[in-house]
Amino acid sequence: APALSRRAAPGAALLLAGCSGPLSTLDPAGPGAASVAALWWVMFFMATAILLGVCAVALYTLRRERRGRGLHVGRFVAGWGVAFPVTALAVLLVIALRTGEGMLPKPGPEGALRVAARGQQWWWSFTQWDAAGNPVHSAGELHIPAGRAVDVHITAADVIHSFWVPRLTGKLDAIPGHENVLRLRADTPGIYEGQCAEFCGLQHAQMDFRVIAHPPEAYAAALAALATARPDPAHPGAADFAANCASCHGTDARAKSAAPNLAGLAQRGRIGGGTLRNEGQESVLLWLRRHETLKPGSREPSHAALDDATLARIAGYLETAR
Ligand code: CUA
Repeated sequence: APALSRRAAPGAALLLAGCSGPLSTLDPAGPGAASVAALWWVMFFMATAILLGVCAVALYTLRRERRGRGLHVGRFVAGWGVAFPVTALAVLLVIALRTGEGMLPKPGPEGALRVAARGQQWWWSFTQWDAAGNPVHSAGELHIPAGRAVDVHITAADVIHSFWVPRLTGKLDAIPGHENVLRLRADTPGIYEGQCAEFCGLQHAQMDFRVIAHPPEAYAAALAALATARPDPAHPGAADFAANCASCHGTDARAKSAAPNLAGLAQRGRIGGGTLRNEGQESVLLWLRRHETLKPGSREPSHAALDDATLARIAGYLETAR
């Protein structure tokens, strides 16, 4: 038995590796994802039962053939070839439709919180609103309260993307000129990884984001903190930023920004749509120097005309955006 388990262990580990981790639908953290996971398990067990059934029928048929007694082909095809798949697929269809329905907003007594998500090549911008109705814009990180239904109004700026936070709910397309609404809820506070799930060009893989679910009582304070997380205007890099970056990048979460809004950049887990882990000023400087090779095709213009000292001042300036 130990020899067997030693041989089986790597296979089982490989098999189970897909079932956990920050992007796993099978590790749900909200009701939407839980229904997707339930559908997955139903399909898994049905497929397993069907596979075993097919093997059994194949063996049975072979034995009958060997004994010279063939099957009644007409009855066999009508039963196993038509009636059975129709029944199995109908059952799956009903469960799948109900699962999909559960991800859409429903009118109810408890009002859902409204947030907006916009996909563009290759990053996500988000807008949340504070209690007074003022917008708070961010890039790469969506802030929500835990334990409350949130309706994400999803659209796109250029091509079709897809908004997907596997641990919270199913995916929904982000379509230019059209708004899709996805309901999600995080049961507990935490950071939930999201990923663009529709091939959208060269850097589709580098188009991730995070949903940060705050304790409900801390949500207002988190939005207020983001709204004031501007870089220090007295920093020596402020003038360099104003001259070279500010025509596209905003640093005020209250205002929309054409390129990623950099308010609160120093607190972000990742930069460049997931290209780099944000380990402080060094990561920002690395991005400023090497973004053309780190993320080819990105719309950020070349910084070849800027010397290293200027780039370092800009990175230092952005590090104060917290
Ligand atoms: Cu955006 Cu793939």
